[in-house]
Amino acid sequence: MPNILPLRYGGPKARIAVIPGDGIGKEVTPVAVQVIKAATSKRNRPLEFVEFDWGADKYLREKISLPEGAVELLRDEFDAILFGALGDPRVPSNQHAADILLGLRFKLDLYVNARPTELLHDRFTPLRDRTTKDINLMVFRENTEGIYVGAGGFFRKGTPDEIAIQEDINSRKGVERIIRHAFDYARNHSRGTAIPGCAPGVTGADVSPADPIPASRRGPAPLAPRSATNPNVSSATSSSAAKPLRLCMSDKSNAMTFAGDLWQRVFKSVRAEYPEIDSRHLFIDTLAMELVRDPGQFDIIVTNNLFGDIISDLAAQLAGGLGLAPSGNIHPGRTSLFEPVHGSAPNIAGKGIANPFGAVLASSMLLEFLGWNEESALLKQSVKSALAENVTTPDLGGTKVTFEVADYLVSQTSN
Ligand code: NAD
Ligand code: IPM
Ligand code: MN
Repeated sequence: MPNILPLRYGGPKARIAVIPGDGIGKEVTPVAVQVIKAATSKRNRPLEFVEFDWGADKYLREKISLPEGAVELLRDEFDAILFGALGDPRVPSNQHAADILLGLRFKLDLYVNARPTELLHDRFTPLRDRTTKDINLMVFRENTEGIYVGAGGFFRKGTPDEIAIQEDINSRKGVERIIRHAFDYARNHSRGTAIPGCAPGVTGADVSPADPIPASRRGPAPLAPRSATNPNVSSATSSSAAKPLRLCMSDKSNAMTFAGDLWQRVFKSVRAEYPEIDSRHLFIDTLAMELVRDPGQFDIIVTNNLFGDIISDLAAQLAGGLGLAPSGNIHPGRTSLFEPVHGSAPNIAGKGIANPFGAVLASSMLLEFLGWNEESALLKQSVKSALAENVTTPDLGGTKVTFEVADYLVSQTSN
C-alpha cells in the first residue's frame, strides 16, 4: 500500500489538497499551484498536489456537495488545503458553498480565520496620504460559531405572519480560544520585524479537543519548524526597532448584550494573562469608522464570525481590494485551509482577467504554515514586485491578463 501519510505524520511529502471550486476559483488556483511549484522545486521541498472537483458543476450533475468521507480524508491524509472560491448563479441557494466551505471550516474545526491586510504598494490604498507604513494589520475572525452555525428556522414560512430566526451561538470555549490565539500572536510577533509570509504564527493555547490522529499513525519526523504548531517558535526579534503589537477586541456588547457579555468577560480574564500587550476594546461600528480614519492604530483585531467577515472586506479594500486579500482557516497543528478572501466573481469568470494575487498570497500563508518561510517570502515578494512594476490585471488598473501575471510570478519565484 502506498504511503499516503502527510509529511507531518512521517509521510514522504507534504500533501496539499487543491479545491479550485467555481468561477474565478478555477482560474486563480492553478496559478497559485504553478507559483508554489516554482518556488519549491529548486529547494527540494517534496510536495504532492491532489485536486478535488467539488463545486457547483458536481453539485448540479451528481447532487453531491461535500462527499462522504471528505472531512476524514483531508484531516488524516493532507497537510493543508488550497481553496479557490465557491458560488454559482445556477445555485441561488448557495447550498453547495455552505456544505463545502462552511462545512470544512466547521468540521475540521478551523477556528482561526486569519485575514492579514497589508498595503504592499502605496498607490493601491484609496485613503489619501496613507502609505505602506499605515496599513499592516491582522484580523482574527472566529470561524466555527456565531451566526454562521445555521441555528434557527422559519415559522409560518410564506405567509404574511412569517417569522425567520437566525441564532448567534457563542460558546465560552470558542470565544476563549480565538481571543487567546490573538494574544499569543501579539506576544510572538512584533512591529518592525520582517514576518516572512503573512500567516499567523504561534499559538500556545489550543483549548480544543485532542488531535484526532492516533499516536500510532504519527511518524517519527514532524515538520519543523512549523510555527503554527510550535508554541516556542517566535518571529519576534530583540531588534530595538521592534515594537509590541497592539490588540483590539471588537463586539457589539452595547446592543447584543448576552453574547457581548460573554466576549467582554472572556476578554477581561484572558488579557490579564498578557499584561505586556497593549489591548483595548472597540464597538464594531466604531472600529469600522476608526479603520478608515486612521488604520495605523491597529495591529491585531479579534472579533466574531460575522463582524470578522465584514471588517475583513473593509480592511482588504484599504490595501487595494479583494483581488489582493488572502486568508487562512487554521487549527494550529491540524490540516488547515488557505484561500483568497474573494468569491467566484461570476461577473468576470471565464474572461481570463481574474487577479491571482489573493490566491498567491494565500499560498504564501500556506507555505508559512508548513514552516517553509523562505519559499513563503518568495511568493509574497513576487506579488510585491508585480505591483511595483504594474504587472497587474484590470481590477488593479493594469492591462495584463491572468496568464501574463502568472508568467511573471513564476519567473520571479523560480530563480
Ligand atoms: P466576489 O468577491 O466574487 O466579487 C466582488 C467583486 O470583486 C466583483 O466585482 C468581482 O469581479 C471583483 N473581484 C473579486 N475577486 C477578484 C479577483 N480575484 N480579480 C478581479 N476582480 C475580482 O463577491 P460577490 O460578487 O459578492 O460574490 C460572488 C459569489 O462568490 C457569490 O456566490 C458569493 O456567495 C461567493 N463568495 C464566495 C467566497 C468564498 O468562496 N470564500 C467569498 C465571497 C463570496
Ligand atoms: C468569506 C465569504 C463566506 C463567509 C461566504 C461565501 C459564506 O464571504 O469567506 O468571507 O461569509 O464566510
Ligand atoms: Mn466574506
